[in-house]
Amino acid sequence: MQTIRKIAVAGTLAALSAGTAAKSDGTVEVLHWWTSGGEAKAVGTLKEAFEAQGGVWNDSPIAGGGGDAAMTALRARVVAGNPPTAVQLKGPGIQEWAQQGALNEVQGVADAEDWDAVLPPALAEIMKYDGNYVAAPVNIHRVDWFWANPEVLAKVGVTEMPTTWDDFNAVADKLMAAGITPLAHGGQPWQDATIFEDVVLGVGGADFFRKALVDLDMDALTSATMVASFDQLRKLRGYVDPNFPGRDWNLATAMVMRGEAGFQIMGDWAKGEFLAAGKVPGKDFLCAPTPGSGFVLNSDSFTFFKVSGDDNLKGQQVLASLIMSPDFQKTFNLAKGSIPARTDVPLDDFDICAQKSHADLVAAVASGSLVPSMAHEMAISRSVRGEFLDLVTEFFNSDMSSEDAVQKLADAVARAM
Ligand code: GAL
Repeated sequence: MQTIRKIAVAGTLAALSAGTAAKSDGTVEVLHWWTSGGEAKAVGTLKEAFEAQGGVWNDSPIAGGGGDAAMTALRARVVAGNPPTAVQLKGPGIQEWAQQGALNEVQGVADAEDWDAVLPPALAEIMKYDGNYVAAPVNIHRVDWFWANPEVLAKVGVTEMPTTWDDFNAVADKLMAAGITPLAHGGQPWQDATIFEDVVLGVGGADFFRKALVDLDMDALTSATMVASFDQLRKLRGYVDPNFPGRDWNLATAMVMRGEAGFQIMGDWAKGEFLAAGKVPGKDFLCAPTPGSGFVLNSDSFTFFKVSGDDNLKGQQVLASLIMSPDFQKTFNLAKGSIPARTDVPLDDFDICAQKSHADLVAAVASGSLVPSMAHEMAISRSVRGEFLDLVTEFFNSDMSSEDAVQKLADAVARAM
């Protein structure tokens, strides 16, 4: 299977580079923000596979969970006229760069390998500009997860994961009474926004989430449901330890691992950290969706920037093909905590959290409750997302009332739209 695929890819690439004398199997400079233990392990599988095919990989990691620092670095590189070959970039950001004429397409590879047949149509659309693929997706991450330490929960007699925010609050109150930090959290704007959007899903449901955080509907943004969402976020603020400001997300995961906190609310890249530390799901740690029947979608992809030179162009084609290969999608996602973007990769070797993610994803698509992540740049433009992050973080770090938060948020979004 692997050999057949390699031959097919080689044929494709030969056809694509016909008439050019490529010197090697391609060179890429890859800009990404995967620097935590689990993330580094996952991106390492891509580097190894690319090098195994004879390519040269130049690594450009920009530390900073959620990618805000990486996006700043990217802009500087493009402005300087020196873009990286491939960039971890996603959602509407892909379209924004494409509109500026900053991207190369990889449609030839996509045609030869029939990507349209193996990607969920909604994801394929995000990867295309003007009908042509300019990016290749590596995974499907779910944002709305609780991660918990079962030994810590057992200390207060809790054996089941909470299914409503009231349930969660009750368990958290018990942990507080026992002198245990209920919620491991890192006070960074993207992390604050992550827990905020999960709360919105639980308090308002998927339709409300879409109206407020995707369609930016003013009635939804100023509704009592939004006030109630901020009320729950205020509750969560009461459950974090005093050292939360500025903490990286993977350090919060480590607090749960070490039994220093009961829960973390984070996307399933947190599972990559547990796995990299040798922890077993269902035994050493528990996963369960946060309340609200829905699925908050986050998908990582690599986008190909406008570079020139046979070697770089070939690098882009080889990388695109590799990213979309079933073998890579399996290996990478086993390490990353996510599930494959391709729909035809068997999940037999994946753990119970991944199986749950997949089952819930299928159910969410069927019931129309799949929503794109605001916090992780799948839903709205960077500038409007920035307004959400600023306000949510200001709320989290002050005694602002929920009513004031809702009004300020609506005003800021209206100005930015
Ligand atoms: C997300 C990204 C994930 C993850 C996380 C923390 O935005 O999609 O792959 O690693 O940031 O860095």
